Amino acid sequence: MNRLFLHLSRYILIAIVLMACQKPPTDQWLNHAVKTAEQQLVLAAEHYTPEHNPRSVYPNGDVRLCHLQDWTVGFFPGTLWYGYELSANDQLKDEAIKYTEALDSIKHITHTHDLGFMLYCSYGNAYRLTKNEAYKNVLLHGAQSLISRYNKTVGCIRSWDFDEWQYPVIVDNMMNLEYLMWTSNTSNDKVYSDIATSHADITMANHFREDYSSYHVVSYDTITGKPLEKHTHQGYSHESSWARGQAWGVYGYTMMYRFTKDPAYLQMATNIADFIMNLETMPADLIPYWDYNAPNIPNAPRDASAAAITASALLELSKYTTGGEKYFEYAENVLKSLSSPAYLAEAGTNNFFVLKHSVGALPNNSEVDTPINYADYYYLEAILRYQSMKK
Ligand code: GLY
Repeated sequence: MNRLFLHLSRYILIAIVLMACQKPPTDQWLNHAVKTAEQQLVLAAEHYTPEHNPRSVYPNGDVRLCHLQDWTVGFFPGTLWYGYELSANDQLKDEAIKYTEALDSIKHITHTHDLGFMLYCSYGNAYRLTKNEAYKNVLLHGAQSLISRYNKTVGCIRSWDFDEWQYPVIVDNMMNLEYLMWTSNTSNDKVYSDIATSHADITMANHFREDYSSYHVVSYDTITGKPLEKHTHQGYSHESSWARGQAWGVYGYTMMYRFTKDPAYLQMATNIADFIMNLETMPADLIPYWDYNAPNIPNAPRDASAAAITASALLELSKYTTGGEKYFEYAENVLKSLSSPAYLAEAGTNNFFVLKHSVGALPNNSEVDTPINYADYYYLEAILRYQSMKK
């Protein structure tokens, strides 16, 4: 009996060792990130209200909430949708519906270019995951509002109505083109994709320097259509490389390639990606300083949002190029850093934001070293992309 037991236990031990060898290594950091995000989002959805969703944290510890005109108002609902997708937690779906439907009236807004962020991140994900026709109708209405800001002579959508510029277009505006490309495909109306490709082409011609770093703001002359000024608004100086601006650029051109298969967009995306990846001022953990030319590097604040946007873009870009592994590996390393205790909050802390340490607009002393809703949004998007690519 004893010998039989000894034999059996030996076989069982060998079987366990063999199974352990065959099993792919568990990405513990990934499981931890998904679990933490789910916990934070459940707590946040219960704590805040759909009318005033969370944006960032003031230096005194109070939470800055979004009003309906806030350019970041779509990110928290969108993050709830991603959280639901990652965790299959139905509570997050119910919350995502509530937080999304509170934004219905945004479809009428015409005073900003940010409707892509406000509506496509919220209603866009809601429609993608539910196929609710009412959500599609909000999106189609909002896209009409967005193209009311297009000027044929310039060939771009006007970004802002404030400040000194005649016709300001910011590199961030590349992100709104995804909404227009989706609208064109969904409504079979070429007007939206014509505007999007014109905007992407003109931006490609005027926003980038020889090294593929980008200006933040280009203001155009509405009579000649030519650029008048190349400035910054949120970066260190007119000639510096504001980290989030580079991230919007690489994301924007990668996404435009997805829709158009125009090789010029792919080339642009790889050029911007290579610029970012070869920067001497990139810290070892790959979470950039808020501006790659910030004066007080290595003591300048980091911007986790720029890292998250870049990671999400590079994961997509890695699918389109031969030798795309280098983009995948870089993005994987960024995600591992963001998922470490240095950036990922402990559940129940950080005012229920997922990530710590982003920068909004340092020159205005606004949102410096704070959690911020769009860092969470692009982080979870990147985690989703990473998970599905690993499979
Ligand atoms: N779109 C504004 C920003 O990136 O801060």
